[in-house]
This record gives sequence, structure tokens and C-alpha cells, in this order.
Amino acid sequence: MDRIFFISFLGLLIVGHGVAGNMVYDNLGMLEDLETVDIEEGLEGFDVPSWTSERGGKVLVNVDSFGAVGDGVSDDTKAFVNAWSTVCNTTKAVFLVPPGRQYKVNATKFKGPCVDKLIIQIDGTIVAPDEPASWDPNYARLWLHFSKVNGIIFQGNGVIDGSGSKWWAASCKKNKSNPCKGAPTALTIDSSNGVKVKGITVQNSQQMNFVITRCNSVRISDVIISSPGDSPNTDGIHITESTNVVLQDSKIGTGDDCVSIVNGSSNIKMKRLYCGPGHGISIGSLGKDNSTGIVTKVVLDTALLRETTNGLRIKTWQGGHGYVRGIRYENVKMENVANPIIIDQFYCDSPKSCENQTAAVEISQIMYRNISGTSKSPKAMKFSCSDTVPCNNIVLTNVNLEGKDGTVETYCNSAQGFGYGIVHPSIDCLTSHDKDYTSTPDIIEVSEETSEEIVHTEL
Ligand SMILES: *[C@@H]1O[C@H](CO)[C@@H](O)[C@H](O)[C@H]1NC(C)=O
Ligand SMILES: *[C@@H]1O[C@H](CO)[C@@H](O)[C@H](O)[C@H]1NC(C)=O
Ligand SMILES: *[C@@H]1O[C@H](CO)[C@@H](O)[C@H](O)[C@H]1NC(C)=O
Ligand SMILES: *[C@@H]1O[C@H](CO)[C@@H](O)[C@H](O)[C@H]1NC(C)=O
Ligand SMILES: *[C@@H]1O[C@H](CO)[C@@H](O)[C@H](O)[C@H]1NC(C)=O
Ligand SMILES: *[C@@H]1O[C@H](CO)[C@@H](O)[C@H](O)[C@H]1NC(C)=O
Ligand SMILES: *[C@@H]1O[C@H](CO)[C@@H](O)[C@H](O)[C@H]1NC(C)=O
Repeated sequence: MDRIFFISFLGLLIVGHGVAGNMVYDNLGMLEDLETVDIEEGLEGFDVPSWTSERGGKVLVNVDSFGAVGDGVSDDTKAFVNAWSTVCNTTKAVFLVPPGRQYKVNATKFKGPCVDKLIIQIDGTIVAPDEPASWDPNYARLWLHFSKVNGIIFQGNGVIDGSGSKWWAASCKKNKSNPCKGAPTALTIDSSNGVKVKGITVQNSQQMNFVITRCNSVRISDVIISSPGDSPNTDGIHITESTNVVLQDSKIGTGDDCVSIVNGSSNIKMKRLYCGPGHGISIGSLGKDNSTGIVTKVVLDTALLRETTNGLRIKTWQGGHGYVRGIRYENVKMENVANPIIIDQFYCDSPKSCENQTAAVEISQIMYRNISGTSKSPKAMKFSCSDTVPCNNIVLTNVNLEGKDGTVETYCNSAQGFGYGIVHPSIDCLTSHDKDYTSTPDIIEVSEETSEEIVHTEL
């Protein structure tokens, strides 16, 4: 942060809050960290090699050559599995799903390790069989599942279509007499480093559309995620136990969170996203069934959320452990969003109601900067925090949320923080630093850690 800005800011804090010197210094340290939280945007450049321009050097492994029919009716599973065993250990190979056709493929695990920099070129459409009753019960939670594929690149203008409508109808969220059970994720990338995904569309997933799990160093750009606004639990992009993830220039419309970031994830950068319909951009849920949830260092820069049920949301269950820390949201525009800014430590997405408990996932160092637009509900901002584990160091600056019809307000429960610059609606309900707050806030360090795949680059 700029030194001059810092000094004027110090004055502003003292004038605006009349607070004691110690607190100001504590806050400044924390603020400087929050303002400068930065996320490695590794992955040398993002020049995804185009197989067409380098055709000479590439070995094309076309699913058609393995007997795929591509009429949307025939079972092309075997062709995909056989093409995979060939491509996996062929250097400079491209797994090609050609354009203009529809390949029906059953739930399949595409396992590595394979050669590095394998390209999956999806130009056609891959569709899932639509009947839940004949789904392989051993693959109850997956459809296309890729694991241990370091350096893999997914690209193309093709579509991954989960044919989810019968799964949605069978969900307990749709009909309470249905049993509550999980459904497959359309595309999963698991336990892989140096992953790139560019251009593809994932749609109509049975449940979550696209999951990144146990990965490090991932860049997703120019993807489209599309499922109906009323399809249950169809999260757009779900990031779990993953680090150094960049998600940019993508359009997500779905029936659940556009993005959800859960336990074990840090250094997540989101840039230029469109979300709607959907439940917003979420951290969590965390802490379900007394579990530990840790998410640190997340930056969202530039987003438009339209007609979503939540905007920027952090959700944790009562009874959890762990923490959410070092989050910055900036340059976000909301259009008719029901809960534009929300921290909900009483999250309960269960048919049974949830008891309040003393334990909670701790939420601190959360910054909202340059957030504007319209709120559908009167409570444009909600900081609903645990009575025993209050939220702390919530910082807002240049926030302006207006009511779609009528005035808006901020709701707080057990939340500490402050604002500077314009903040509307007023955040008088946030408490300032407690007197007994003596320790220096944790430093949010900018990770300089680099792995083989990570090289500094500017977007
Ligand atoms: C590719 O080669 C690796 C290392 O030899 C081996 O572990 C893996 O099973 C092979 N994968 C396929 C799909 O043949
Ligand atoms: C794909 O699933 C269908 C329906 O369960 C089944 O009949 C078919 O044998 C499966 N294909 C393969 C290659 O296992
Ligand atoms: C819910 O499911 C039950 C049992 O399968 C069925 O009888 C009922 O018609 C369904 N209700 C709706 C609204 O679809
Ligand atoms: C949370 O993530 C950590 C780090 O990846 C993992 O070790 C732990 O098992 C995860 N906990 C839960 C409840 O998933
Ligand atoms: C979570 O902890 C509370 C309080 O110790 C206990 O009453 C409850 O049964 C626990 N829940 C689960 C799912 O373990
Ligand atoms: C504030 O965010 C909006 C996007 O919502 C952007 O257009 C504008 O340039 C940002 N303002 C500043 C000062 O960065
Ligand atoms: C849990 O605590 C919150 C905040 O004190 C309160 O608003 C809510 O009613 C409580 N819920 C239950 C189920 O006791």
C-alpha cells in the first residue's frame, strides 16, 4: 500500500473512530496485509498450445479411431477408455473429441500418472446417460473423473453435458419424499498439479458441475458453466483441498453456488467472473458435523452478480473448528441480489434444524472494497457471527448497496470491524476493537513459494 495513503488513512481512523493508538497500529498492520493479499498467478504464461497450429509435432488420438460412434445414442465408453490408455503414455499426444458430434459416455475414471502436458481437446459434446437407475453404483458421485494427471490441459469449444434432469427430479430438495443422497459431479480433476482448463462448457450436471480437488497450481479461464437456476446442488466450480488456483473470465449460471471454496484451500484468485442465476460466490460451507475447515487467502477481483440469492458469502456450520482468514473482495457489481454481502455462521442446509453450539469456524480479516449495486432484500449486509467466536477485522471501503425498492440496512451479530470511505448502508452495528484485543493480528504473507510449474506472470 502507498505510504501517503497509509498516513492519511491513519488520521482518518483516529478522527473517524476516536480509537486508541494501539488499536490503530494493530489495525494498520492487518489492513496492509489485507490490502496487499496477493495470489501467485503462476503457470508459465497461459499460452495453451493449440494442437491445430502445431499439428506436425502432435500425435492425435481421436476417439473416433477407437470406435466411438458419436450419435448421442451409442455407448462410446469403451472407445474413450481405450483412447485414454493410448494417449496417457504417448508423448505430445492430443486426446481429441471431434466437433459436431455427441458422444455418450458412462461414469469413467481417467487415471494417471500419464506423460506431462497431455492435451484433452474437447470440440464435440460428451453426454452422460440420463437414467439414474442404470448408473454404476460404484461411481455414485462421479461421471468424468481425472486423477493424477500433472500438467494436463483441457481446451476446446466443446461441451460436457451431465443430462441431469432425472437426477434433479429425484433430489430430496425437489421432493421431500425422495431420499437425500448424492449425485455425480460432471467433471472432476483430482490430485493433479499444473492443470489448465480453457474454453470448455460444462452444463446440466447431475450435481456439482466442476470440482477441483487436491490439486495445486490450476488455471481455469474462459469456461462456461450452465445449469438451470432451479437444479438442486449444482455448484458451478467447487474448489476443495486445493492451492494456487486462478479462475478467470468465466460465466457461471447454476442452481447452487457459482463458486464454492471449501476446506484445505488457499491462494485462490478469481478475476472477471459473471455469476447468475445461482447462490453467489461462496466460501464454505465449512465446519459441518463438527469438522475442521480452513480457507485462507482468497481474492475476488471484478465480478458481476445478477439476480443471485447471495452475493459474497461465507457460510459455516455451528460446532465447526478451523478458520477463514485473509479474504479480499473488490470491484464487484450486484444487480438485484438477495443477500449481497453475507457472513452466516449459523448455516444449516439440513432437513433437521441445527442446534447452536459453542464451537465455530473463526472468521477474520475479511475486506470488501468497491462493492456496489442493488439489494433485493432490506438487509443488504449481514454479519451473522457466532456468539462465542465473534467475527473480527471485517473491513469495508467504498461499498454502496441500494435497495431495489426502499431502504437497506446492515445486520450484525457478534461482528467486529470498521469501514472507511463511503460505506452504505451504515455499519454502525459492527463493534470496534475490543479493549482486550492485545495480540497482533496474524500476518497474511504473500506466498513466494514456487513449485516447478509456477513462474511469475502478470495477467
Ligand atoms: C502410464 O505409464 C505409467 C508409468 O509407467 C503407469 O504407471 C501408468 O499405469 C500408465 N498409464 C496407462 C493408462 O497406461
Ligand atoms: C454403460 O452403462 C450402460 C447402462 O448401465 C450399460 O448397459 C453399459 O454396459 C455400460 N457400458 C460399459 C462399457 O460398461
Ligand atoms: C414426490 O414423490 C412422491 C413419491 O415418489 C410422488 O408420489 C409425488 O407425486 C411427488 N411429488 C411431486 C410434487 O412431484
Ligand atoms: C481439510 O483439509 C485438510 C488439508 O487438505 C485435510 O487434511 C483434512 O482432512 C480436511 N478435513 C476435512 C474435514 O475434510
Ligand atoms: C458435535 O459436538 C456437539 C457438542 O460437543 C455434540 O453434541 C454433537 O453430537 C456433535 N455432532 C456430531 C455430528 O458429531
Ligand atoms: C469499482 O468496481 C467497478 C466494477 O464494479 C469498476 O468498474 C470500477 O472501475 C471500480 N472502481 C475503482 C476505483 O477501481
Ligand atoms: C443461535 O444463535 C443466534 C445468535 O445468537 C440466534 O439468533 C439464533 O436464534 C440461535 N438459534 C438457535 C436454534 O438457538
